[in-house]
Amino acid sequence: MNHLTTVWHSLELNRYPKQKNETLRAWDAADEYLLSYLHEQNIQGPCLIINDGFGALSTSLHQLSPTVITDSFLSQQSIIANSQTNQLDCPTILPLIKPLEKPCGYFKTIIIKIPKTLALLEAALLKIRPLINSDTLIIAAGMVKYIQTSMIESIQQLVGPTRPSLAKKKARLIHITPDHSLLTAKVKNPYPKELCVELPGGNRKLNLINFANVFGQHKLDIGSRFFLENLACDHEPQQIIDLGCGNGLLAMATYQHHPDSQFTLVDESFSAVASAKAGWLSSELPENQARFVVNDCLTGFASNSADYIVCNPPFHQQHTVGDHIAWRMFSQAKQVLQQGGELRIIGNRHLGYHIKLKRLFGNVQMLASNSKFVILQAVKK
Ligand SMILES: C[S@@+](CC[C@H](N)C(=O)[O-])C[C@H]1O[C@@H](n2cnc3c(N)ncnc32)[C@H](O)[C@@H]1O
Repeated sequence: MNHLTTVWHSLELNRYPKQKNETLRAWDAADEYLLSYLHEQNIQGPCLIINDGFGALSTSLHQLSPTVITDSFLSQQSIIANSQTNQLDCPTILPLIKPLEKPCGYFKTIIIKIPKTLALLEAALLKIRPLINSDTLIIAAGMVKYIQTSMIESIQQLVGPTRPSLAKKKARLIHITPDHSLLTAKVKNPYPKELCVELPGGNRKLNLINFANVFGQHKLDIGSRFFLENLACDHEPQQIIDLGCGNGLLAMATYQHHPDSQFTLVDESFSAVASAKAGWLSSELPENQARFVVNDCLTGFASNSADYIVCNPPFHQQHTVGDHIAWRMFSQAKQVLQQGGELRIIGNRHLGYHIKLKRLFGNVQMLASNSKFVILQAVKK
């Protein structure tokens, strides 16, 4: 189940965070197709890998001195852990948001695993364009159902012509031919994008600064908007956490009700945390009242260290839909809350989060609802 055997190696690979009775593999048919093709082509290092989900590509290609660019802390942790499990040197891992540094500037091969969103692909393409030479081998791969036409168009506009392979086990490779005239043309990077949001009551505006890959980057999400009306806490919290903060909207809106509190904004996306920090500062909120943390949920946070946690949980990890991350967020929130502290969440009605919260906290209350969402409160007794 967790052994990937390819022409390169046989490796033990796990998804992170590790779950009891995991039923999903840490790689997909697109990784296997790509690895077999790259072996046939006798590819050369150093290689750059964009968006290696759980490390299947970077660990398999470890002898080609891979550098990985990712926006995900969980992917980063997976690559580190899977390298350790297989006693391999860990590849260089760079967050997408970080500017590329000179020493990593030359790559013979660039591999792109098709990400979940067009925005993430665009941001990665814009980043790697200066690294592409006429002799760079560039290839993308993904499961057919995740490869959108707009993604292919974006590759064609930013890098060069594409040629799709035949599909194999529902995966496809996309061969990319670098076009020098395209690569040298000036292109404006559309990120970060700004969004001005008026808070309920109409007397305060927030500036959201959205880097690529941030939740609700084009317009305010309808769930988040509903949550904005229901953020005031009836006690005066000192330590507030925005768990899965995205662009920081919930923390920034909560600040309006609790301007003396200290805030911690946490997300596993490097772009999200950078967006949250930029938005907080751009909305002229006090810098010394907030810290911005890239992390997997609240792993490593001290017990009993917060008294109010707000959370709009994710319902997928990479391409996999499920409530396992939400469940981790709720259980870790309980650990981190003090006695009497409150977790407040929003969820789609059909997700049944009230059952989970009741099981964990022994209590749950619905504070508000509409046809689509519920806002639930659970208190650590
Ligand atoms: C539904 S969005 C909510 C964003 C924002 N709070 C809002 O309401 O607009 C969920 C967020 O959880 C983040 N996330 C997903 N898995 C996470 C994890 N393991 N640890 C921390 N954050 C995570 C995602 O990156 C995303 O920003």
